[in-house]
Amino acid sequence: MVDCKMPIAVFDSGLGGISVLKELLRLLPNENFIYYGDTANAPYGVKSAEQVRELTFSVYERLKTRGIKAFVIACNTATSVAVAALREKYPRDIIIGVEPALKPAVLCAQHPTVAVLATPLTLKEEKFATLMGRFGDDAEVIPFACPGLVEFVERGEIMGDGLQEFLNGLLAPLKREQLDAVVLGCTHYPLVKDAIVEALGGEVLVFDGSAGTARETKRRLESAGLLNNGSDGGVVFIDSAYPNTENADRSTLMRFGGEYLCS
Ligand code: DGL
Repeated sequence: MVDCKMPIAVFDSGLGGISVLKELLRLLPNENFIYYGDTANAPYGVKSAEQVRELTFSVYERLKTRGIKAFVIACNTATSVAVAALREKYPRDIIIGVEPALKPAVLCAQHPTVAVLATPLTLKEEKFATLMGRFGDDAEVIPFACPGLVEFVERGEIMGDGLQEFLNGLLAPLKREQLDAVVLGCTHYPLVKDAIVEALGGEVLVFDGSAGTARETKRRLESAGLLNNGSDGGVVFIDSAYPNTENADRSTLMRFGGEYLCS
């Protein structure tokens, strides 16, 4: 039986979902969270859809057995390939996904030029094609895969010359496009937002889906009568690279995530 004291699980392939957790903590400070980073299997964005679906189901089923009241897939890649199948198998459960924030981005100007940065798998999936179909006429949309970027974040390398050089090279084709906006369509990317903006030349609006995902989580819990009105909120970190240790202090996820949440 689900009750309001149960934790909300927040899941990503690794550290990226911390950007969503930050918004969740801001909006729902009384809630208990389990943050699950599958760092042993990151990155997801260059795997096959079947592999990522399987990994997502396996994490979900483990956390469901432990007892959670909602599951936030704080990963665009896992959402693309698994959210529909999970909801179909568990229609009563609260399962929230994240998707590239194209909707607000296309409203930022009259027919703006918008780049969507995401993993190769997110951009390949049907879900992204559907999103493009909904908003693609209102803007010049440039889907842009960023293989290799997640690995910087997973190492905790979110600033510095190495990262900047990598991004300057990767994003050079976009610098010529006179972008009005960029959508960070992978939850790892907000963690390196400053370096991305710098590589694009500085004059660009940035959108990501984390605040919208947090608002949707709150809405869903509210309408199910499952908000926790007590005051015992907190976060437990689980890093799949340290399977037997919750809050493992040797884990980059735990150290880096803790610092990022306080920043
Ligand atoms: N953070 C994830 C996303 O939002 C996936 C990154 C990866 O593991 O490739 O897409």
